[in-house]
Amino acid sequence: MALTGKAKLAGVAGWPVGHSLSPRLHGYWLDLYGIDGAYVPLSIDPKDFPTVLRTLPKMGFSGTNVTVPHKEAAYQTVDEVTDRARVVKAVNTVIVRPDGSLLGDNTDGFGFLENLIQRSPGFDPTAGPAVVLGAGGAARGIIAALLEAGAPEIRLANRTRSRAETLAEDIPGAVHVYDVEATEQYLKNACLFVNTTTLGMDGQEAEIADFSALPIDALVTDIVYVPLQTPLLQWAAARGNPTVDGLGMLLHQARPGFEAWFGVVPEVTDDLHQYVLMGLET
Ligand code: ATR
Repeated sequence: MALTGKAKLAGVAGWPVGHSLSPRLHGYWLDLYGIDGAYVPLSIDPKDFPTVLRTLPKMGFSGTNVTVPHKEAAYQTVDEVTDRARVVKAVNTVIVRPDGSLLGDNTDGFGFLENLIQRSPGFDPTAGPAVVLGAGGAARGIIAALLEAGAPEIRLANRTRSRAETLAEDIPGAVHVYDVEATEQYLKNACLFVNTTTLGMDGQEAEIADFSALPIDALVTDIVYVPLQTPLLQWAAARGNPTVDGLGMLLHQARPGFEAWFGVVPEVTDDLHQYVLMGLET
């Protein structure tokens, strides 16, 4: 709909931000729900980021998404953070409260879980151990969300083992660290296998380790969505494992922000999937 002087404003702050799919995604929902609002890319130099973030409420913004490389700076800059942002130590969603203060949230873990629930309806996170490869910010959010959903055990493996050990110390619950090569130990009777590393991104060479100990009914998912069918997902699908691609995580992580800024609970549909996918291809 045409904007009025009362339009609500939000955006995505990044550097660079030109590759972000978020304006396309939020723009789709704004159109669909006929909302008087705009969602814009905010290209912000890291040296200016804290000042600009603090200025957004003064410019009438309802909030913003935050992407690479600003997520940690946003965590440091906001007035208060949610529990799930504290676990990740990074903020991807900022909400301006009525008094002008900034609340920082991290919705990556939420998006991850909602995507699995939607795309793999029979999936039960309580059914068995979950294997997580990688120990960056994304892994933190995902592990916290899985534990909250009742996963009995997280088996964590990362190229840099010390980083995985720090993560396991930071997150309360049954998170056990394994050597990346110890595949037989950590894959045995797992019900979920998650790649949170950047391996396989953008056609990057990704050597599939020997994951043959993974049960054939374990759900396999990758947070990388360029390409949509990563080498890991191709391997898993070829041997018969159920798979879920990473694009839906991006769509679902956007829901809490959209609801807070524009007042409508948005839905993730097949049409939206297709529409955002077209943005990837252009
Ligand atoms: P994010 O916050 O998005 O998760 P990150 O903090 O850069 O991103 O973490 C990237 C993850 O991918 C890390 O687990 C990293 O392993 P290290 O902790 O050893 O750096 C992993 N990763 C990146 N490139 C990799 C590679 N070539 N092989 C194995 N793991 C890799």
